[in-house]
Amino acid sequence: MSDKILNVAVVGLGIGRSHIVEGYLPNTDKFRIAAICDLSQDRLDGIGAEFGIEQRLTDFDALLRMDDIDIIDVCTPPMVHYPQIMAALRAGKHVICEKPLVGSLAQARRGCRGRKDRQRQVDADFSVSLWRWHRAGSKNYQ
Ligand SMILES: NC(=O)c1ccc[n+]([C@@H]2O[C@H](COP(=O)([O-])OP(=O)(O)OC[C@H]3O[C@@H](n4cnc5c(N)ncnc54)[C@H](O)[C@@H]3O)[C@@H](O)[C@H]2O)c1
Repeated sequence: MSDKILNVAVVGLGIGRSHIVEGYLPNTDKFRIAAICDLSQDRLDGIGAEFGIEQRLTDFDALLRMDDIDIIDVCTPPMVHYPQIMAALRAGKHVICEKPLVGSLAQARRGCRGRKDRQRQVDADFSVSLWRWHRAGSKNYQ
């Protein structure tokens, strides 16, 4: 198993804060929170200061241009999931996304195709998914 620590960016800092607290901080041997992104500067500054996260972006596209991000954790409102998942895949990132994953079967199929074409992982954020990621460690996500 690779020892690589994966760099995560959390997008959307409502329930995204819980992902930080319950998902990533207890697993710092596998994940590093490299950036946070939200439209709200207040949320960015509050959570950035709380957890010592320096990279705070309001621009999702700028986040996608960061070469050192491995995984985008999408915690934005549901209507934003599909465009952000597809943009993240196009940028070569793995994606984990809050439920509901997308809005239709057609979007799910396009997401699956995008994932396969780019050899990246997309997962819906049910607790079983986080557990599976944790169990799989870095080996499937490089
Ligand atoms: N809160 C829960 O208990 C809960 C439970 C299950 C699923 N979810 C899912 O989690 C997602 C988020 O829910 P929430 O309760 O955290 O909502 P929220 O409104 O509290 O937070 C969403 C955040 O996303 C930010 N945002 C919106 N558009 C953005 C964009 N384009 N780029 C960057 N940031 C953007 C907003 O500024 C806001 O801070 C939803 O899909 C919801 O269905 C939430």
